[in-house]
Amino acid sequence: NVGKSTNIMWQDCPIQKQDRQQLLQQKGCVIWLTGLSGSALVGKSSIACALSRSLHSKGKLSYILDGDNIRHGLNHDLSFRAEDRSENIRRIGEVAKLFADAGVICITSLISPYRKDRDSCRALLPKGDFIEVFIDVPLHVCEARDPKGLYKLARAGKIKGFTGIDDPYEPPCNCEIILQQKGSDCQTPSDMAQIVISYLEENGYLQ
Ligand code: PPS
Repeated sequence: NVGKSTNIMWQDCPIQKQDRQQLLQQKGCVIWLTGLSGSALVGKSSIACALSRSLHSKGKLSYILDGDNIRHGLNHDLSFRAEDRSENIRRIGEVAKLFADAGVICITSLISPYRKDRDSCRALLPKGDFIEVFIDVPLHVCEARDPKGLYKLARAGKIKGFTGIDDPYEPPCNCEIILQQKGSDCQTPSDMAQIVISYLEENGYLQ
């Protein structure tokens, strides 16, 4: 057990998630966006932002955990090797769980390429509190957009282990929402966010 926490006990507080949710008039949950880099018009982050903006205008409290941003701080020690990506997802899953427990609608925006890592995060939360949203955009569309120029660098061998090029992306098998963008059908981030909002309304998350 060297290096691991021992002799620790869980501390409870009389104010519970239910009390916080009542205060906020919403249900704390995690909206887990997953998909290739550049999978929305200008990235998953743009759907996350459109979603957060829309929730804010309805008086609902949300918070975005963005992969790129969290890699500047909490996860600055992690690379894009498989073990580090898994650790990235695990830590963000744990943080998202705390936000949901606080009663917040937590939106995560990560490639999260491996199915088992996403499933582990789902298992951290009470049933129904993890809403997996697959941004289903074919690789060739993401690559043609290439908003950050990273696909070009990956094809040229200047970035190794790039998702979709020489590192796998495993699409979800049983996710709650699929946002598709194929061919000339060009949905904006707000269109996509609206689909998620409708799901939240229909399933009682916004009360
Ligand atoms: S992961 O796989 O979930 O741990 O990745 P994530 O934390 O979401 O970070 C993805 C962003 O990092 C940039 N980037 C890479 N992506 C994929 N593969 C490699 N090798 C890589 N190197 C850097 C890229 O800008 C991703 O941003 P998005 O917003 O997804 O385009």
